Amino acid sequence: MLKGVLLRPGVCDFPLSGSSFDAGRLVLEVGFGDGRFTAQTAQMHPDWNILGVEISAGSVSRAIRRFRREGITNVRVYHGEAGFVLRNLVAPRSLHRVYVNFPDPWPKTKHQENRLLQRSFFRRLSTRLEAGGALLLTTDHHDYWKFAQAEAQASQLFSTQTPSPPEQHLHTKYALKWKEQGRDFYHAVFSKTGEDPEPWPVLQRYSMPHALMSGTLPEIGVFEKAIVRFASGTAVLTEASKTSQGYYFLTHVAEEDLVQDLLLEARASTHGLYVGISRFGAPLSTAGVKAAVAWLVSWLEGQGLGVIQRSY
Ligand SMILES: C[S@@+](CC[C@H](N)C(=O)[O-])C[C@H]1O[C@@H](n2cnc3c(N)ncnc32)[C@H](O)[C@@H]1O
Repeated sequence: MLKGVLLRPGVCDFPLSGSSFDAGRLVLEVGFGDGRFTAQTAQMHPDWNILGVEISAGSVSRAIRRFRREGITNVRVYHGEAGFVLRNLVAPRSLHRVYVNFPDPWPKTKHQENRLLQRSFFRRLSTRLEAGGALLLTTDHHDYWKFAQAEAQASQLFSTQTPSPPEQHLHTKYALKWKEQGRDFYHAVFSKTGEDPEPWPVLQRYSMPHALMSGTLPEIGVFEKAIVRFASGTAVLTEASKTSQGYYFLTHVAEEDLVQDLLLEARASTHGLYVGISRFGAPLSTAGVKAAVAWLVSWLEGQGLGVIQRSY
């Protein structure tokens, strides 16, 4: 049975399994915005499982309210990057279709690297689509439409058709906005013809990294922001806040296509001072989180505390 609309990476399966979705075709929508296309598609195909991914928190909460209001039960939502979802939540060869309606065009040449439909995205997608699976793009941006076709072709893993946009795709929030301005619309269907030899394995996760320490926690007056660099990204410990049992350290971790804001903690426990991740917000325990915990432990060592046991 379905458990909740919003998927939390720290608690859902990698890749998603039957505990997140009922049996049925898996369809992904990237950048669903206010979710009206998602809701309509879910109603048209009650036997599909639709996974929506969106980076805007406001859009995620508005869309979830819509799904609840409209009684939709076959949609799950991930708040974050499409690349992360594709790689970690979608099992190899499990995806029937991907919808991308009006992706951000990033019109300036120097910003083109931010465009979603790059050849690396197509390569990754080829490993997650089932045989014959396809990505459907609709856009008002002629240059982006051409760019996506060139990138798909460069990947050598997709064939492209460019029929007129299906009517249903022309009623999204952005479609209606651009229609009012009299813009033209472009459509492309990218069908999988091959598969990238690189398997794009899921992100490595670690059991909760932590240490037990001895000694007395210092009073932290002003906490100097700490930047921790590791192989695949950066962690920044931005502030320390006192709690009844110790301190929380607000930490921002950016690695590959995952960004997390989480709390590390140093608090009294029965076995000593526990230094590790707080479960608040169900964070994902990654290489970046491990590096941040290791930094905090060595910073506390520098403040005179000793390590009783290290688990990372
Ligand atoms: C121009 S809006 C289109 C929204 C909706 N599809 C529509 O047609 O009304 C583009 C949406 O894509 C989202 N977005 C951009 N890059 C993304 C990414 N890498 N992963 C997930 N969502 C993304 C943005 O937050 C935004 O809501």
